[in-house]
Amino acid sequence: MSSPLHIPDRRLFIASAAGIIASHALPFWTVKGRMADELTKTPAQTEGPFYPNKLPLDTDNDLIVINDNLTPGVGEITHLTGKVLDAKGNPVNNAVVEIWQCDAKGVYLHTDDSGKKKDKQDKNFQGFGRFVTGKSGEYYFRTIKPVPYPGRTPHIHFKIKKGRKELLTTQLYVKDDPGNPKDFIWNGVKDAKQKAAITVDFAKLKESKLGERAANFVIVLGVTPAE
Ligand SMILES: [Fe+2]
Repeated sequence: MSSPLHIPDRRLFIASAAGIIASHALPFWTVKGRMADELTKTPAQTEGPFYPNKLPLDTDNDLIVINDNLTPGVGEITHLTGKVLDAKGNPVNNAVVEIWQCDAKGVYLHTDDSGKKKDKQDKNFQGFGRFVTGKSGEYYFRTIKPVPYPGRTPHIHFKIKKGRKELLTTQLYVKDDPGNPKDFIWNGVKDAKQKAAITVDFAKLKESKLGERAANFVIVLGVTPAE
């Protein structure tokens, strides 16, 4: 993480993030007690063409602010929490959760995309982030609510790794987005439970005067990775 404590805002952010994780913690614990065969495995989906070909200098879990920049990225701030579980429902320790998504103008942090849209690109949006889980398997990102771009409904790309091993590549969608039923990748997930598992609420936080949102995405791997 990049020296997050320099700006007073950051301190507030970290404190409120901890509160948000705590307020979303309850549903997580209910998962563990279920029978493993009741768990819906998160479906794998295409990586797509825009996994960053050059990682940003800052790869922390706050995509709104790059390093100590004073200007934040544009978009609807979203506190994205979740948990990585193995096939049996146990939390996965030391899982590397990576996310990437286009900025509010629909531009990805990949030269094949940003190279053509330099004038549109939001240079203050980090576009990619990483979080390493602890024993609870939980992860947290501060990012923006994803936006549509030509041909795709809003989505956030996810990749889960352990060490160098890639365990899952998938995408997360916004519940009730009118673009979902027309999206060929969303529609490629045929199992209704799996589709529901990757399509979550991005609800506005009542306590936020800035209209911030929160989303929670539990990731169930099809495997139990070795420690
Ligand atoms: Fe995409």
